[in-house]
Amino acid sequence: MVKWWNQTAFYEIYMPSFKDGNGDGIGDFAGITSKLDYLKDLGINGLWLTPFYPSPKVDNGYDISDYYGIDPAYGEMEDFETFISEAHRRNIKVIIDLVLNHTSSEHPWFKESRSSRNHPKRNWYIWRDKPNNWESFFSGSSWEYDESTDQYYYHAFAKEQVDLNWANTDVKKAMFDVMKFWLEKGVDGFRLDVINFLKVNNSFQDNPYDHEKNEQIHLFDKDQKGILDVIKEIAELVHQYPDKFLVGEVGSEDIEILKRYSGTGKMDVSFNFNIGSIDKFDAEQIYSRLVETEQAYESDQMPTLFFSSHDMSRHISRFGGDEERGKLIAALMLTAKGVPFIYQGDEIGMKDWVADDISMMMDVQGRLAYEEAISTGKSKEDALAVANERCRDKSRTPMQWSPASYAGFSKVRPWISVPDESCTINVQNQQGNPNSMLSFYKRLLKLRMEHSSLRTGEYEFIDYQDGMLSFMRTNEFESTGVALNFSEEEKTLNIEAERVTLLLSNKRKLIESAKALAILPNEVLILRRILKK
Ligand code: GLC
Repeated sequence: MVKWWNQTAFYEIYMPSFKDGNGDGIGDFAGITSKLDYLKDLGINGLWLTPFYPSPKVDNGYDISDYYGIDPAYGEMEDFETFISEAHRRNIKVIIDLVLNHTSSEHPWFKESRSSRNHPKRNWYIWRDKPNNWESFFSGSSWEYDESTDQYYYHAFAKEQVDLNWANTDVKKAMFDVMKFWLEKGVDGFRLDVINFLKVNNSFQDNPYDHEKNEQIHLFDKDQKGILDVIKEIAELVHQYPDKFLVGEVGSEDIEILKRYSGTGKMDVSFNFNIGSIDKFDAEQIYSRLVETEQAYESDQMPTLFFSSHDMSRHISRFGGDEERGKLIAALMLTAKGVPFIYQGDEIGMKDWVADDISMMMDVQGRLAYEEAISTGKSKEDALAVANERCRDKSRTPMQWSPASYAGFSKVRPWISVPDESCTINVQNQQGNPNSMLSFYKRLLKLRMEHSSLRTGEYEFIDYQDGMLSFMRTNEFESTGVALNFSEEEKTLNIEAERVTLLLSNKRKLIESAKALAILPNEVLILRRILKK
């Protein structure tokens, strides 16, 4: 039987930046609930919420200090419950982000752990007398000295995000209770944050160095033995509840690594960074990554398709800032094989924002990169440039609802800057315009709902020639063909026009009867094959 998540188009909500409902400049549950009709009308049927638990917000909630609550900035438990039931009433599923790898340094568990070497919770975190050479994924050493007990604790990310010791079964038990709590609250699944970092190698050997790339190879601090066993237990627990879904953030672009973590008895899917985080636009590379994934995956594995998130540059900006191309990428995400994850604002073509002063930079990763650059003697200007490369504020600015002040996101100044272009790029401006990005997303999402082959079909073929990607997806009911001409020239698609009908194009209303079709530059053409009687 086809699972619901296989039929779902997800939408990522970055909690602090979607919609402010109570006028404090920070997004919240009341705000999201007020926009559920917008999301329903857009045509998505699943939401992924970034963390909303109480947190000092050093890393915007990826530093949790209480796994059982709601951060007051986002509302109360009642607001969460209202949101879940209102989403469900509209047939929208909700998955929530769960950070199992680390807690905030303000979490009571860590406070107890650091209180004394003999505390029963000492071993809930990773303490050592001496640091090794492991580097944090944000900046500097991943070991922080704790004066009161004269030892170092391990943190793969910021020092305020302390890694739990998953070799300790008490940690596992505590986190399994957390999962049960939220499943019983009615969530439809979890996005498991940095799940391939869950365990480190107990030998604590130094990581080797890649002299060519000038960077450390994370040989002993990620993808370690034993992580998959925990994932299997998590899957077993979660799947005891009917119809729950698990998507993992496996931080890797290596298909062989990504592949390990999903399938029967593991996570349902993991994010395909091998496709999604391509840094420069290259249609051929996208094609080869799609094919690589298709070839690597077993029949119980399904790819995911995304090109933006709260951790990366938005694809419109990353791929050259062109709206036309943005539409082709949208079409690819919503018609190729995989579970799509649209990032908030991409549906209106929001662009990256760049800080022109360090005081405007909110992201911990950007700020740490700035400090590191300054400490190595870089000028303020150069340090800002380095920091902007790493800073993830780019895609975290408020959702642009209208040309009103603060983009209609809030009545007061938001927690992060609002891009000037919100005056022109916003939901309100695009809503009535049939040629807008928003209208195009709606058409695609509707088409995806109407044509099951776009959700469950296998590739009958997938092809790339000179800038044009084309594929046919077929299931037991129908075949749908897609041509995406990423080039600036007309291309020829060899099909018999009398055997197809036009489902969608951004360039034409009709197809002529011919043996070969001319696909226009930047055209998306979606066709249905008429089966011979
Ligand atoms: C994930 C999150 C990112 C966070 C990191 C550490 O990659 O998506 O935002 O900084 O985990 O928790």
